[in-house]
Amino acid sequence: MAEEVIIARETPVLKGTVRVAGAKNSALKLIAAAILGQGETTLRNVPLISDIDIMSEVLERLGARVVRNGHELLVDTSQVDSFETPYELVTKMRASISVLGPLVGRFGQARVAMPGGCQIGARNIDMHLVGMEELGVEFSVDHGNLVATTPKGLHGGNILLDFPSVGATENTMMAACVAEGTTTIDNAAREPEIEDLANMLNAMGAKVQGAGTSTITIEGVLLESMHPCVHTTVGDRIEAGTYLTGGALLGGPVTVEGINPTFLRMALTKLEAFGCTVETGEDSITVSRTQPLRATDIQTLPYPGFPTDLQAQFMLLAALAKGSSIVTENVFENRFMFAAEIARMGADINIEEHHAVVTGVERLQGAPVESTDLRAGAALVLAGLAAEGETIVRHIEHIDRGYEDYVGKLASLGADIERAALESLN
Ligand code: UD1
Repeated sequence: MAEEVIIARETPVLKGTVRVAGAKNSALKLIAAAILGQGETTLRNVPLISDIDIMSEVLERLGARVVRNGHELLVDTSQVDSFETPYELVTKMRASISVLGPLVGRFGQARVAMPGGCQIGARNIDMHLVGMEELGVEFSVDHGNLVATTPKGLHGGNILLDFPSVGATENTMMAACVAEGTTTIDNAAREPEIEDLANMLNAMGAKVQGAGTSTITIEGVLLESMHPCVHTTVGDRIEAGTYLTGGALLGGPVTVEGINPTFLRMALTKLEAFGCTVETGEDSITVSRTQPLRATDIQTLPYPGFPTDLQAQFMLLAALAKGSSIVTENVFENRFMFAAEIARMGADINIEEHHAVVTGVERLQGAPVESTDLRAGAALVLAGLAAEGETIVRHIEHIDRGYEDYVGKLASLGADIERAALESLN
C-alpha cells in the first residue's frame, strides 16, 4: 500500500471550534476492564483511532466479540475462554499489557507475550508485577511469555508504588477488584483516566474508592458479582491540549469542546505564561494570543503536573518564543525525538540528558520530517502550519494511533493541510 503523508502548509491563523474525542488512554483500559464484566459492555465516546482497533483485536483473540458502531463499542466478553495475548499484538502496542490485571482477576492466570527486550525486573513493567505479586500473583517467563498464576488465589494487599505509574496503578486496581479482602495502592497515579476506569469498575459492581488521589482502596468482591455496564469515556485532555497548542501558535481563538478544563490545569497555566489568553467553560476551553510568545520553562511530571504527552507540542511553542526556555522531561527517558526533527525546520534546541534548552527563533522553515511517535508527529504537523512553505510529515501511522481525523479537524480550523500518497508527490 502506498505510504500516506500529511502535507502541512503555512497557515496564517487557526480559529474555530473542535470537539475532542474520548480519551485514548482511558478507552484502551476500559476495553480491557470489560473482561471482568463477563457479558455485553457498551462503551460510548470511544475514539476512532488505530490503537483502539488493536485493543479490540487483543480482546477478540481472547474470545470476545467486539462490535463498533461509530463511537460506540460493544464488547461482549461472555465467551472469553483464552487468557493468552500473542506477541504480534503486544509488540504493536504496549498498552496491551493492561489485559494482564483483568485476566488474572477472571481466570486466576494469564499469559502475555513480553515486548522485545523486556524481561522480568525490566524497568518498564516492574511495578505492574510488584503490585500484582502483593495480591498473590506469581510470575515466570516461558518462551518469551510472561506467565501469571495465582496458586493460593488472589488476596488483598498493601502496595506502595515506587513511582505513580499509570499502567501499574490500573493493572493492580483491576486485579484487586476481585481479590479476597481489601487492597490499598499508595503513591497511585492520579490521572483523570484512572478515575474514569474506577468509575466504570464501580458501575460493574467493584468497590473502588479514592481513584484520582494518591491512595486507592479496593474492597474485593466476588468475580460472579461483577457484571457488564454502559460507560461513557472521558474526553481526551491530550487531544484537547494539542488543538489548544495550535491556537496558541497561530493566534486563535480556538475552542475545544468535550473536555473538563480542570484536567488541563497545568497546561493552561503554561499557555498563559507563554502569553495566551485562556477562557474556560464547564466542558470547553478557548485559547487566543495577540502578543508574541514568551519563553516559558516546562517540566513534565505525573498528573496533576505537566503531561509528558504534551511535551513536544509545548516545545514547539518554546521554539518560536522570545528568549530561552528549558524543557525538562521527568517521566520518560529518551523522549526528545521531536527536537531532532524540529531542528531540521530551523529550531534551536540543545539537549543535555533530560533537559532541552530551547532558544526561540523568528521563523521555522518547511521541510520533510518524520513523525517518530504519536505526540511528536502531531506537533510536527502543527510546526508545518506555522513554518514558511510546505512540510511533508512521514510515518503518520503514529498520528493515526491516537488522533481521530487529525487532518479533518485541523482543516475545519482553517489549516492548509491534506493527506496524500507519497508516490503521488514524486
Ligand atoms: C501512560 C500513557 C502514556 C503517558 C504515560 C505517562 C497509556 C496507554 N499510555 O503510559 O500516554 O505518557 O502514562 O503519563 O495510558 N515505569 C517503570 N516500571 C513500570 C511502569 C512504568 O519503570 O512498571 C516507568 C516507565 O518506563 C516510564 C514511567 O515509569 O518512564 C511512566 O510510566 P507509566 O506511568 O506506567 O506510563 P504508561 O502507563 O506506560
